[in-house]
Amino acid sequence: MNNGAPTRRDFLTALSALGLSGLMPSLSFAQQSMPQRQIPGANESLPIIGLGSTKPVSQIANKGLGPISEVLRTLVGHGGSVIDTWPRNAANDAALGQLLNQSELREALFVTSKIDQAGKQAGIDQFRQTLSLYQRQTLDLLQVFNLTDVETHWSSLEYLKAAGEVRYVGVTVSAAALYEPLERFIKKEKPDFAQVNYSITEREAEKRILPMLMDRGIGVIINRPFMNGEYFRRIGQRPVPNWAREFDCDSWAQFSLKYILPHPAITCVLTETSNPVHMAENATAAFGRMPDRDQRNRMKAVIDKI
Ligand SMILES: NC(=O)c1ccc[n+]([C@@H]2O[C@H](COP(=O)([O-])OP(=O)(O)OC[C@H]3O[C@@H](n4cnc5c(N)ncnc54)[C@H](OP(=O)(O)O)[C@@H]3O)[C@@H](O)[C@H]2O)c1
Repeated sequence: MNNGAPTRRDFLTALSALGLSGLMPSLSFAQQSMPQRQIPGANESLPIIGLGSTKPVSQIANKGLGPISEVLRTLVGHGGSVIDTWPRNAANDAALGQLLNQSELREALFVTSKIDQAGKQAGIDQFRQTLSLYQRQTLDLLQVFNLTDVETHWSSLEYLKAAGEVRYVGVTVSAAALYEPLERFIKKEKPDFAQVNYSITEREAEKRILPMLMDRGIGVIINRPFMNGEYFRRIGQRPVPNWAREFDCDSWAQFSLKYILPHPAITCVLTETSNPVHMAENATAAFGRMPDRDQRNRMKAVIDKI
């Protein structure tokens, strides 16, 4: 990826060129670039909001590349770069590969993928197919999905990193039931990243996992910031509290993201969306003020009453 962080000015120019300037939710942060956090132990930083692409990639077969293309350009336009992917369907992944290789995106993105197959050769084959479908020589981050056969795959990931075929290696979990195996794994091995579920509604990771990952110098990528959409169903039509404006929060999506982002363990938060307006809203949560400890406690109290 290109480490030169695009600024909001670049973003405005890009949106205008794409005819998407209606996606600009607020001009108040127009001179800033998206805040970044350093990858622990590396001389590289990542913008703090990224895209979880499972849903928009799964829609390529029916809707074509238009929606995911707009979502990705909106992310990049806001200064984001991280796209998390998961090999599911070769035809859709090949189409995603075409998009990832468009000239204005190719150097701008930090592309991750996963191995979700058991067995050493199956894992290597899956990685090679991903590289081929994405038309890349190198992946930025390769993760073992939900710790699937991680004892078998880990030496392969280390080998691929040493060979320069992946830049960083990691593991993912998306449920508290996997925290114990994750703890056991990170006591033995040192992944560059762990991907963990965490949100204002799923706070279990605060107790042990996030502090432990921070202590061990492991980068943290967050999934399920909206419980895969369940958060919005629970909130319903309630208005966002007025006091959320004290930390530049205009929507319930930003309410969850601005709760997550101040945690010092976190490198990047993925938000999954197939809607460019939602992508703009989520990316904007990276800008402006963040809640302090008292405000975060107040946010929790609101959510716990719902
Ligand atoms: N074990 C693993 O490795 C694992 C497991 C789960 C997830 N993940 C990763 O994490 C990513 C995030 O997925 P998730 O399950 O955690 O999803 P999520 O981001 O918690 O929620 C996604 C849902 O929220 C909606 N949404 C997003 N932004 C919104 C907004 N501003 N306003 C209203 N609705 C909004 C989306 O609908 P719209 O399309 O309508 O916006 C979608 O239905 C995945 O794509 C994947 O990359 C990894």
